[in-house]
Amino acid sequence: MIILGIESSCDDSGIAILEDGKNLLHNKIYSQTDIHASFGGIVPEVAARQHVSSLGNLIQEIKDLNMLNLIQGVAVTKGPGLAGSLLVGINYAKSLAYALNVPVRGINHLTGHIHAAWIENQEEIEFPVIALLVSGGHSELVLMKSHKEKILLGQTRDDAAGEVFDKVARFMDLEYPGGPVIDKRSQLSKSKTRTLPVTNIKDTLDYSFSGLKTSTIKYISKIIEQNGQLDDNLINDICYNFQDAVVEQLVIKLNMAVEEYEPKSIIVCGGVAANSHLRTRIKNESTIPVIIPSPKLCTDNGAMIAAAAFYENSFSKESELDLDVFPSLKMTD
Ligand code: KG4
Ligand code: ZN
Repeated sequence: MIILGIESSCDDSGIAILEDGKNLLHNKIYSQTDIHASFGGIVPEVAARQHVSSLGNLIQEIKDLNMLNLIQGVAVTKGPGLAGSLLVGINYAKSLAYALNVPVRGINHLTGHIHAAWIENQEEIEFPVIALLVSGGHSELVLMKSHKEKILLGQTRDDAAGEVFDKVARFMDLEYPGGPVIDKRSQLSKSKTRTLPVTNIKDTLDYSFSGLKTSTIKYISKIIEQNGQLDDNLINDICYNFQDAVVEQLVIKLNMAVEEYEPKSIIVCGGVAANSHLRTRIKNESTIPVIIPSPKLCTDNGAMIAAAAFYENSFSKESELDLDVFPSLKMTD
């Protein structure tokens, strides 16, 4: 089946055409990062307006490539995310499905991130799977017994991992989003030392990152007080110190989950899964196969939405021309 996937839950407009869950015939993302950068974060109204033009352009591109006639179903993110942004995506999806006379289905963005792993690696992934989903809004450990059976094992009790990357970067006046720049600067650190505390809430698979955020901000303020200002070397060392503490916590709980549930494979997904330190550590330390989508499929994209629709067999159910948005949708909804 050839599925068009549309993603517009936050600040990335994504369109992809995926054949049989694995052949990516088209995959385009229009990132609004530069537009929101001057605000230091996403402005919901601006994001929604931008989706109107960028999704329109991306769909026009598919039309110009004569690919519209290939589409047999339209899959679109229904939540979680920003209501206005989601609304633009589902209205494009419904209109397109109606015009092409194909079904439309709403897809959970969170399961989309996980299913992105199958696009490049169908053969390697064996159930049960433990998925670590780490993005700007979520940090969750999920047990999957099949494509459709998902059990939430743990989640963040406060900030998400990506969120603290963004906030710590902002405090040091680094670019937005913070994850990629902290990742790059960490690699340039000469000290490669961790002194910041690693949170490990006892007897649970839940995460917590707000304590680390506060400690890091206090630590940076103290360095500024002592040195007058931050230079490049200090920034690089702080980035390493902070990133290593985030990764350590992510790995501790992932290892606990693996020990308890004995999965046959591990999936790491979501924007923070693009982090080089996290990717290397989990791959090097695991005794079972670790599947991490390539960085372009880790951050928000349309291909993951088409993949989720394919692997969850969403088109076996009726078309949803009356589809609505679900801004607070949960992983297991
Ligand atoms: O999955 P995603 O694109 O959007 C959400 O659904 O939230 O994730 C975005 C998050 C941002 O917080 C960004 O800073 C983080 O992913 N991120 C990274 C890296 N690339 C993106 N975090 C750490 N290291 C990276 N290389
Ligand atoms: Zn996402």
